[in-house]
Amino acid sequence: MKIIGTGSALPKKVVTNDMLKEFFDTSDEWIRTRTGIETRRIMTDECLLDLATTACKRAIEAAGICPEELDYIVCSNVSNNYVYPTLSSMVQGAIGATCPCIDLRNACAGYVYALDVADMYLQTRRANKILVLAAEEPTRFCHWEQRETSVLFGDGAGAVVVEKGDGFLGSKMTTVSNTEVLYQRKRLESTPFEVEGTYIDHIMVMNGREVFRMAVSGCSSEISHLLQDHNLKTSDIKYFILHQANMRIISGIQQHLDAKTEQCPTTVQKYGNTSSASMVILFDELVRANKIQRGDLLVFSGFGAGFTTGSCIVRY
Ligand code: COA
Repeated sequence: MKIIGTGSALPKKVVTNDMLKEFFDTSDEWIRTRTGIETRRIMTDECLLDLATTACKRAIEAAGICPEELDYIVCSNVSNNYVYPTLSSMVQGAIGATCPCIDLRNACAGYVYALDVADMYLQTRRANKILVLAAEEPTRFCHWEQRETSVLFGDGAGAVVVEKGDGFLGSKMTTVSNTEVLYQRKRLESTPFEVEGTYIDHIMVMNGREVFRMAVSGCSSEISHLLQDHNLKTSDIKYFILHQANMRIISGIQQHLDAKTEQCPTTVQKYGNTSSASMVILFDELVRANKIQRGDLLVFSGFGAGFTTGSCIVRY
């Protein structure tokens, strides 16, 4: 796999920590010290398809190809308001592509899994050019009276175009079945046969401390093993592009890896946790700011509900 174009898109509305005080009892100080988040972007009159389409068009333009040249779209997404059809089918029509599409639902770690699937399609010669996107609106998953989750999230989308190449050095994926620490059930219709008391609530449930602990230990050990397997040292990596959920989680992983602060760039302070879109939004910003050069080694690593982690090494 070789990455030939990147793009991203964010909602225009900037929401500061102080603005959240209107909805629940919180403070800028609490949010900054616990998460590092200062602002986030939240959708107003946009919809997720708009963001996803804009991010994809930017990636396709940067890759210098036509949408008709794509022969697969892989989309990481959990927070689309359609259960079906897939977001990737909607994006396909919006960008004028004609290829088959698939959505992966692997929560915040989903982007690394999407890259891994794309690499397999390229390696098995079942595709030549693939659009890999992540688009999420997790702010629509929050119960806006639940302050411990509502402060964490933001909306956004990012995409890359990949083609055949030798830039995907390897990946490591882990799932430890622990479905209690972070989950959300979808709202289902009632049936006339439902037994009383089987109503299922659909509010996000999160054990923040446990998620924090599993994220730091899961990503740190996965990245360490991956580096070891490829005879690489922390210092060989230009950037660790980590899931942007919380500044303290990023610092924890950085310390475990003995990486420098500048090796772990962040956008979480500006955009909050945009779920699986966070890594690719950050990546696109680095590419567009000319902070990544061809040949640089990058590690992508994410974590999320499952509990799932996924990491990969990419030579840009
Ligand atoms: N504003 C003010 N107070 C808040 C608050 C908010 N937005 N949210 C929770 N609190 C309160 C709680 O009610 C609790 O009060 P109590 O002790 O009186 O019951 C207290 O703050 C909890 O504080 P603390 O235990 O110090 O929180 P923490 O250091 O564990 O930080 C998280 C909480 C959620 C920020 C942290 O656990 C975290 O980031 N976890 C990872 C979450 C994550 O990344 N999820 C997405 C995964 S993809």
